[in-house]
Amino acid sequence: MGENRERLEALRERCLQCRECALGQTRKNVVFGVGNPEAEILFVGEGPGANEDEQGEPFVGKAGKLLDDMLAIIGLDRTMVYITNIVKCRPPQNRDPLNVEQDACIGYLRQQTQILQPKILVCLGRIAAMRLMNPKFRITKEHGQFYDLGTMRAMALYHPSALLRDPSKRPESFDDLKSLQAEINRICDHTRAELRGIKL
Ligand code: URA
Repeated sequence: MGENRERLEALRERCLQCRECALGQTRKNVVFGVGNPEAEILFVGEGPGANEDEQGEPFVGKAGKLLDDMLAIIGLDRTMVYITNIVKCRPPQNRDPLNVEQDACIGYLRQQTQILQPKILVCLGRIAAMRLMNPKFRITKEHGQFYDLGTMRAMALYHPSALLRDPSKRPESFDDLKSLQAEINRICDHTRAELRGIKL
């Protein structure tokens, strides 16, 4: 087993026991994250919904299907990237995760990031962008723009759920995906064949 895979697995084991905030009392499953332990691209959403809570996997509902389509537009699939959320347990009624819940959980994402050392961070929606890039982040103005964040290049896409609610945003999101593809081609090393060879 590769070193990243082992370290992620050890972190997942700890995360599954977590009771650091109240979401730990209502969750069915911890949704730690999935993907390629050698991924150079990290996607971060806000938190699990009902389907994710049932299955213990991020983005498995309608929004997840759209995320798969978005990845496919730029020649990627789930086995080539890593996908997780700001909070690992479902907020009741799908409300936004509270700051206190994000604070309790953010250490897991920090450690995931330390292990993966991604080159590109993609925030899915406003909550992730505000937490990871800038508390004043305005998704309607700043989606698709790249920023330097430590050693990473970071950008935000509209959340797939926002694109389901408001399909008029889809053309802009398509342009954002094309910018993401260009940045991936510019700075990522792994060939797609290589990443496919590193099985989930
Ligand atoms: N929305 C998110 O932000 N994350 C998921 O995992 C599912 C829906």
